[in-house]
Amino acid sequence: MAITLKINGKNENVTAAEGTPLLWVLRDHLGMTGTKFGCGVAQCGACTVHVDGTPIRSCITAHEDVEDSDIVTIEGASGKVADAIRGAWEELAVPQCGYCQAGQIMSATALLVTNKSPSDDDIDAAMSGNICRCATYVRIRKAIKEAAKAVY
Ligand code: FES
Ligand code: FES
Repeated sequence: MAITLKINGKNENVTAAEGTPLLWVLRDHLGMTGTKFGCGVAQCGACTVHVDGTPIRSCITAHEDVEDSDIVTIEGASGKVADAIRGAWEELAVPQCGYCQAGQIMSATALLVTNKSPSDDDIDAAMSGNICRCATYVRIRKAIKEAAKAVY
């Protein structure tokens, strides 16, 4: 089936079988490999993107279900919150292997857009779906707080 998806502000024409996960459309059809495959069953968060501002798992989201939505991937994450998150990530050297970090950044950005001063509990709740095998959780929490201070 052929549909048009709005990704990072741009209309993208996509031809893929019905039910093809958004993750594979991004990576294989559009060459946007910043969004990662981890588990494929909504358990790790590596594939997190925003759909109308909400973080979702693109590995279990059929691409045709987000036809009328604004999709933002790590490649298109922009604005003061995303910039502050990126800056804090860099300053605190958050990533280790880096594999999970695109998903972490997408979840962290969504959190900070809606919560100007997240507590540890808020952060843990918002980030609980993003697994890091390198256990960078302490730095992630610190970076989110640094970013909050920088933005608000
Ligand atoms: S790849 Fe989607 S949650 Fe793990
Ligand atoms: S930085 Fe290695 S999995 Fe998170």
